[in-house]
Amino acid sequence: MSTILQRSHTTMADLGARHGYYSSGVIEELFPPGLTLLPQCSQIYELDLALAEFKMLGVEGLVPRSAYFHTVDGVETHHYRICTKTPNQVDEAASIDRKNFFASNLFSVGYATHGLYPYRGKFHPQMIKGIFNAIGLKKGETVLDPMCGSGTTLVEASILGIRSIGIDQNPFAAFMASAKLAGLTLDAKPFPQLLSSLDQVFDYFDQAKPDRTEGGLTFAAKAVTKKTVREALETQTGLRRLVGLAYLDAVGYAARRVNKTPRDLFGVVLGRYLEAVRCFGESRAELGLRPAAGKVVHDDIRTAKLKAESVDAVVFSPPYSFALDYIENDRPQIEYLGYEVDVLREATIGVRGGEGSNEATRIQARVERYFEDMDVVMRQSAHVLAPGRCCVVVIGSNTSQTRGIRLEERVIASAASYGLQKFKHIVREIEGIRNTLKDEHILFFVKE
Ligand SMILES: C[S@@+](CC[C@H](N)C(=O)[O-])C[C@H]1O[C@@H](n2cnc3c(N)ncnc32)[C@H](O)[C@@H]1O
Repeated sequence: MSTILQRSHTTMADLGARHGYYSSGVIEELFPPGLTLLPQCSQIYELDLALAEFKMLGVEGLVPRSAYFHTVDGVETHHYRICTKTPNQVDEAASIDRKNFFASNLFSVGYATHGLYPYRGKFHPQMIKGIFNAIGLKKGETVLDPMCGSGTTLVEASILGIRSIGIDQNPFAAFMASAKLAGLTLDAKPFPQLLSSLDQVFDYFDQAKPDRTEGGLTFAAKAVTKKTVREALETQTGLRRLVGLAYLDAVGYAARRVNKTPRDLFGVVLGRYLEAVRCFGESRAELGLRPAAGKVVHDDIRTAKLKAESVDAVVFSPPYSFALDYIENDRPQIEYLGYEVDVLREATIGVRGGEGSNEATRIQARVERYFEDMDVVMRQSAHVLAPGRCCVVVIGSNTSQTRGIRLEERVIASAASYGLQKFKHIVREIEGIRNTLKDEHILFFVKE
C-alpha cells in the first residue's frame, strides 16, 4: 500500500478536533492526504468521477491515468502535464466569451488535439478519461464509440494506450475524428515548410475534387511546387487529413467573419493546429506515451455489421436536441467531401423524420422516431460488448422540446431489454443554458 494511505489526516483537522470543531471538508473526507485535485475540479459529478478513479486505479495508478488529480505525493499527473503544455487554442480575433471559455476549461476541453475544430455537442474529454477509469478500461483493451462525432472518445483512448473504434454516419465527423487521432502521432518536421508555402498548401485543398476514394478527394498536387511539401502531403495520410481539417476550419471560420476569406484565415488556423500537435508531441516524448491505434468508420450504427462481444467498452453520447439540424450545420464541409446532405439527413438520428404541419408536431414526430432509433443503438451496443463489461451513455433531456418526456428514462428501459443493467447514474449540471437543458446524465450499464 502507498505511504499516502498510511499517513494520518492533516494536523489542521487534529487541531480543530482538540478544540471541539469539525475542520475536515468533503475533499479531505474522500481522499487521503498527498492527493491534490485539479483547480477546476469543483462540480459534484467531477468529484464523483474523481472518487471512482481513485477507487478503481488506486493511488499507484493515478499519475499516468487520472483525469481529475493534479498531484500524487507531489508528482504531477500526466493529465496536468499534457494540459499545461497545450498552447493557447484561441485566435486573437476570437470573442472574449470564447477566450474565457478556453481559459476556464484548461483541464477539461482543449488539450492534445481535442481543441482543433469547434464541433457542436462535443464531449468534455476530461470526463471521458474519468469514465474510462471508472469502468476499469485497461491499456490494450478496445472501446467503441458508435456515434463518435469529432472523435473525443478515440483521441482520449489513444492517449491512454486504449484501442478504439469510432463510427459516425456524418462523413465530415469521421474525417475530423481521423484527423485528430492522426495528430497524436505526427512528426513535426515538415511543419515549418508547410507554413512557408501557405498559399500553395491552401490551393492543394481548395482545388481538390471529390471522387469518393480515400477521404473522398483528389487533391491538386500540381498546385504545390516545393517537392518536399508536396511529397509530405501526398504520402502522409494523417498529415493530409490534419491540414485538410485546418482548411475546412478556415472555410467555416470565414463564414462567421465579416470581410475575411478562407485563404485569409488559413495561416492562423493551420499555425494553431500544427503548434497543438507539436506540443503534444513533446508531451508524448517527455511522458513516454505510446498512443494506441484507433479506427474510424463512416457508417450508420443502426445497420453497421458488428462482431458479437468484440469490445471491452462502449462509450457514447447520442444527439439530444430536436431543434437543431446538425447535419445542415456541416453542409459546406460535407459537400466538399462529395456527399449529399439530404441523403445523410435520412440516416441522422434526432434529425430524421419530422413530418408535421408545424414546428411542435414536427418535433414530436422526430422524438418518436428517435426512440425507435435509440432502441436499435442500444441493441447494437449490447451485441458488440463483452459480458461483464460496461456501456456508458451521456444524454440530456430538453423537456420543453419533448413535452416532458425524459430521454434518459427511455434509453435506460431500452438498455435493460437487451441485458444492459444500469449500476451507476451521475447527474452533471449544465451551466449557461439551464432554461433549455438543466442537466446531462452519465448512465453506466453493465452487460449481464
Ligand atoms: C452528440 S454527437 C457526438 C459527439 C461526440 N461525443 C464528440 O465528442 O464529438 C452525436 C453524433 O451522432 C452521430 N449520428 C447520428 N445518427 C447516427 C447514425 N445513424 N449512425 C452513426 N452516427 C450517428 C451524429 O453525426 C453526431 O456526430
